[in-house]
Amino acid sequence: MSIRAGFLGTGSCLPEKEVTNFDLEKIVDTNDEWIRTRTGISSRRIADDQTATSDLAYGASLKAMEAAGVTAEELDMIIVATITPDNSFPSTACTLQDKLGAVNASAFDVSAACSGFVYASTVAMQFVESGAAKNILVVGAETLSKILDFTDRNTCVLFGDGAGAAIIGPVESGGIVAMELGAKGSGGKFLSQPAGGSRMPATKETVDNRLHYIKMDGSEVFKFAVRIMASSSQKVIEKAGWNMDELDYLVPHQANIRIINSAGKKLKLPADRVHVNLDKFGNTSAGSVPIALDEAVRSGKIKKGDKVVLVAFGGGLTWGALAVEF
Ligand code: UT7
Repeated sequence: MSIRAGFLGTGSCLPEKEVTNFDLEKIVDTNDEWIRTRTGISSRRIADDQTATSDLAYGASLKAMEAAGVTAEELDMIIVATITPDNSFPSTACTLQDKLGAVNASAFDVSAACSGFVYASTVAMQFVESGAAKNILVVGAETLSKILDFTDRNTCVLFGDGAGAAIIGPVESGGIVAMELGAKGSGGKFLSQPAGGSRMPATKETVDNRLHYIKMDGSEVFKFAVRIMASSSQKVIEKAGWNMDELDYLVPHQANIRIINSAGKKLKLPADRVHVNLDKFGNTSAGSVPIALDEAVRSGKIKKGDKVVLVAFGGGLTWGALAVEF
């Protein structure tokens, strides 16, 4: 009998410190009205100096493991999606494995920016469905504030820190019914961290020129996002064999309320069936979809038997969608 993979439990972890639009008004040439009307964001959480990505990943993982009833020793694999790893290496997944004491788990990171959690979930799904692994911890975690230029109003108002996690394992009914992934490397230049890799190693000049921070062409990313969020959702619904009107709930990447509303409209979903939390947390990149998923599950917005699409786009450029029956 074939094995179907599904979500056994979810968790999330946000830093305590809240930074509102009004706080940002004091440090950069922006204002609450512009940020709210152009993006939908009012506030975001920012990690303190002592907190790294694996610390948020750890908090989210404990909650997901508790919800799934899975112990650290029972984990077969840990996959962390992040673009703000604690270090280039070791991977954040290995750091997390040690913190959890998950001595039986293999561990590696996935780099697909804001699509990272969806990408990592599809990897976990393959291991579960082939029978090669049973309990896989998948985490989307970021401390984007560490690579934000707080003198650049085009980017610093958009992002926040946070982590979401899920245990993916075999399910008896429902589960991940279909997936849809894609990449367009030619658009990589629109959203990147120019320095710090092998193309442009860190030097005094790269630091002086602020090249270790996120650089973005917002309008190019916006055009791509509006198109891809709707088309990849539609494709995954088709692959799942669902009718469009069967979709109960959409968990979209939380980048901009205008992008989310446009996707919801194209999918003909009323606003109360589209998860939105970017007003509180901003864009947490790989953390965005699993934090939203955890909120939707814990608040009862997603119920047993619901047909749900998780959809994301991000740097790379990348995109991904999952059709999941809960
Ligand atoms: O996970 C993927 C991450 N990236 C994204 O999702 C980004 C997608 N893109 C977007 O969400 C939007 O393009 C933005 C929110 C980044 C920008 O919104 P927009 O409606 O495309 O604005 P714009 O870039 O066309 O800028 C309009 C004006 C400009 O002024 P001028 O040139 O018209 O005088 C900007 O300089 O708004 C100005 N502006 C700001 N003003 C106040 C840009 N950022 C700010 C700011 N506060 N923070």
